[in-house]
Parts: sequence; C-alpha cells; structure tokens
Amino acid sequence: MGLLEPIGGPHSPGGRRTLNLTLPTIDKWGSLSGARILVRVDFNTPLIERDGQYEVGDDFRIVAAVPLFQRLMSSGAHVVACTHVGRPHGHFEEKYSVAPIRRRLEQLCPGVELMENLRFDPGEEANDEEFGRLLVKGFDYFVNEAFGVSHRTHASVMAPPQFLPSAAGPHLLREVTTLLSVFDSPNRPLVAVVGGAKVADKLAIVSKLVDKADHVIIGGAMAFTFWRAQGHSVGSSIVDLGKIDACRELLASGKIVLPTDAYALADGSSFGPQGGEDTPRLVTDSIPLGWMGLDIGPRSVERFGEVIESAGTILWNGPMGVCEDVRLSSGTRAIAHSIVNSSATTIVGGGDSAAALAQYGLSDRVNFISTGGGAALELLEYGDLPGVKALRDCPWNVGS
Ligand code: 3PG
Repeated sequence: MGLLEPIGGPHSPGGRRTLNLTLPTIDKWGSLSGARILVRVDFNTPLIERDGQYEVGDDFRIVAAVPLFQRLMSSGAHVVACTHVGRPHGHFEEKYSVAPIRRRLEQLCPGVELMENLRFDPGEEANDEEFGRLLVKGFDYFVNEAFGVSHRTHASVMAPPQFLPSAAGPHLLREVTTLLSVFDSPNRPLVAVVGGAKVADKLAIVSKLVDKADHVIIGGAMAFTFWRAQGHSVGSSIVDLGKIDACRELLASGKIVLPTDAYALADGSSFGPQGGEDTPRLVTDSIPLGWMGLDIGPRSVERFGEVIESAGTILWNGPMGVCEDVRLSSGTRAIAHSIVNSSATTIVGGGDSAAALAQYGLSDRVNFISTGGGAALELLEYGDLPGVKALRDCPWNVGS
C-alpha cells in the first residue's frame, strides 16, 4: 500500500498535531484487473430545474473526479461511485436524485456507475453498521475522494475502511496535506479572512485562528455580532445574542479586524440572487434602526486591503456580504481582488468564496481552492477529520 507524508513532514513536537497523518494511497495497489472499486465522491452539486427536468448547475466536482476514475479503469478496475446530494434526511426526494449527475458523468467519463443518493437511506447519516456492510458488499477496494464530507461520521465515510483495503483519493490527500502544512508553518504574517452569516458556526474556528494567525479579518453578517459586542447599534442586522460575550473575548486579543462601514437596506427590502429595487445606503460605525447591514463599505475594503497586502499567507473563507446580489457584492469582489493581487500564499475554502472567485474569473490566481467549506474549517480546528482517521485506522493500512 502506498504511503504519503504530508507536505512539510511530521508536525512539530509540542504542537497540537503530533498525529501520524500518513495515509494509504492507491499507488501501490498493483494490478486492479477485474477488481470492483467503491469510490466515495462528493458530487453534492447544485441541481437546477429547467423545463421540468433537473440538470447539473456546476460540474466542477464531477470533472475533478474524472482523472481518478480513468486511472482506476485503465488499471482494469470496475468503478462504482457513491455520493450524497443535499439533505433529504433518509427519504427519497426527486429534486435530490443523482439522475442528472449520472447523465453528466456518463458524458464526462463513460463506464463509471453512480449509486443513488446515499442520504435517501436513513442508515447513511446514522452511520448504521448494517447499511455500511450493505454498501461494501461485492467490492474489493474503497477510495475516499470526498474531502468535503469527511468531517461527517456518516456510514459511507466511516464503514468501508473497516471492511475493505482503502485509500485516500488524490484530491482528499492534497486537501489534507496542503491545508495542514500551510496552517502549521505559514509564511508570516498569517492573515485569515472570515465571512458568512452565522457567527455560531464559525466562532470556534475564529478562536483557533486568533491563536494561530497574526490578523483575523471578519466580514459578512457575522461582523455585526462583533459590532454589538463593541456596543455599536446594528439595526435589524443578523446578530447572535448568545455569542456576544465570546466575541468580546476574541476582540480582547487585539487581532480581530472589523469593518468600519457597511451597506444597508431598509427593513422589508428584497435582496438575494433575484436582486431588488432599493439602493443600499452606506453607513459608518453603526446601523440605524430599521436597517440591515448586508455588505462591507469602501472604508472597510481599504483597511482590509492594507492588512491583506501585508500578508505572507492568506486563508479566506466566506463572503463579505450577500455577494449573489449585485448591489451587495462590491465588498466580496474587492476583497477577492486584494487577495489575488497580494504576493502571499493564498488558500481559499468554502463553496461561496470559491464560487465568488469563479464568478470574477479569479480562480486560477490563488494557490489553492479547497472543495470543502465545513470540512476545511474542521480540519484546521481539530487537525484531523473522522473520515481521514478512518482511512488511517484501516486494518489494511500496514506500516503507518
Ligand atoms: C458540502 O457541500 O459542503 C459537502 O457536500 C457537505 O455537505 P453537508 O454539509 O450537507 O454534509
């Protein structure tokens, strides 16, 4: 079985990551002639309804898996892929069927089979042993190429390495080694740029980033909970009242960089991908009653840009505003440009930030785009993921 060390080698003694991250790879499997290989992929991709039929909105994740499929098939293997789509929570829903993905896969890589959505069965999310056994029946090998779901203790991630010789797919391996090595030994200053709406989801990683990074820039709606913690009024902006004390503690680190102005819309205005009629108003330091902050303003863009320009390494996760609405996208667009124009090592994680980069035609101007938002953050937070650990613990992973 092939073994691969993470970039940068074993982690420093005394650091939190003294784990042996050696992972089995497909390199030394030898002849796969006639072998049946189960590949867990993350084809959780937007499915768009057009003329009564669903089709794949973005085939990035499918395209990315094709070289692995081709490699396995050229070694004589029969490949069956499995994925989840959306969150149907244990029952069939047409809109989450893999049928459109199957059609696209057939065009991109004929010969690969794709199982129906794993999450149609309650056993998947419950990590049910019986479901896991059923899944691997008739297979000789397993490959986990689903980094984006490897933070979930779901059956298709956890069970196969217990029953089959298993390996990390090339993308999963690259995600893990790149993210950990950059986080552990970054070129300084390390600047984290964190956005998005839900402060509760990201507070744990922000506090980890405060330990590790030199500056942590906060944008998106989550900045307004920090504004409240500073005593500013935030109008009707999204605020997590239960997290205000935690935000206050993080602010005491002196590393948090917050917006100082914002674009806001009056209550009742519509916004989102469909846009709206009203023109956002620029406000400074606080949001008036009856208004909701939805993007960072030009003064914040300038300040964030200065910090980004000074960086040796940049980690970016989450947009600065409601960037799918063109009226509320200037902050995210400007920060994306600052990031790609910097001379730092640039790592982007999360579907929204990756989609924003793609929309601005900047995807090829960063060093690394992680396919997994939640998985990338959990990997940075804990230094490991359940799905990665399952591969390490695979009984066939001899010598690791
Ligand atoms: C993702 O798109 O982030 C992954 O497929 C994980 O999806 P989940 O958050 O529904 O588990």
